[in-house]
Amino acid sequence: MKIKKAVIPVAGKGTRFLPVTKEIPKEMIPILNKPMISLVVEEAIASGITEIIFVTARGKESIADYFDRNQALETFLELADKKSQASQIREIGEKVEIFTVRQKEQLGLGHAIKCAESLVGDEPFVVLLGDDLMENSYPATKQLIDVHEEKKGSAVIGLIQVPQEETSKYGIIDGVDLGDDLYELKSMVEKPNPADAPSDLAVPGRYVFTPEIFKYLEKIEKGKGGEYQLTDAIKLMAEEKKVFGKKMEGQRFDTGSMEGYIEATVAFSMRDKSLKEALLNAVEKYK
Ligand code: G1P
Repeated sequence: MKIKKAVIPVAGKGTRFLPVTKEIPKEMIPILNKPMISLVVEEAIASGITEIIFVTARGKESIADYFDRNQALETFLELADKKSQASQIREIGEKVEIFTVRQKEQLGLGHAIKCAESLVGDEPFVVLLGDDLMENSYPATKQLIDVHEEKKGSAVIGLIQVPQEETSKYGIIDGVDLGDDLYELKSMVEKPNPADAPSDLAVPGRYVFTPEIFKYLEKIEKGKGGEYQLTDAIKLMAEEKKVFGKKMEGQRFDTGSMEGYIEATVAFSMRDKSLKEALLNAVEKYK
């Protein structure tokens, strides 16, 4: 079955970016002139996704608004003879269908995904977490969807290799190496200490699931940090079903951290001829 739905949890409080996140959703913080969530949604669209399900919370309304049409602004830009800007903002609202569901309590990522169950229905879907930007002409999510199709509809978890000392920041898999950057999961553990980590293969927030994941999300208890962890549901699923891990190709930016955010901003600026010059001049001036 062709995957058309993506679940994107956006209910988090974004405490690492306080105080701006006191009033602005962290997903709406821009890299240059685009909100970060827009770059994540672009990856989903480039992977064939046509329906986005945001798992959202109070104060996050501007995210769904961003993907809606703004006809007053479009008309204003057209009358001001700014036709290319008018069509640019019209396109944002035309490319995907947006659905939202509220996560009424912040009980963890596993709980957030469970909130999307009735909107997902009985079909496979992808999950993208907004804290990581993945860039490649072959989109990261599409890389996983292709494995899902090759492997007759199994769940597929996106992987990256991380330095051993960073395992405590991620879900880490224990898997059998099948070659070609493909693994079969034996188990998975949420944010293990480096000494206890079963591997250095981490999950940066790209997943393909079948609706069966909801059954396992129903079974899990509160885990790491007192939260319902998606990792624990994947672990249960891997005990009963084939679950694959795929090392994803491409450039990754950890925009959940200030350092990664700066790196992405610099990388994006360097691609634009006039911004590149401005950036290099500024670095020279303030270094
Ligand atoms: C979540 C997941 C974790 C994953 C990470 C990727 O953790 O629980 O398994 O590796 O996202 O960003 P969080 O960073 O939300 O605490």
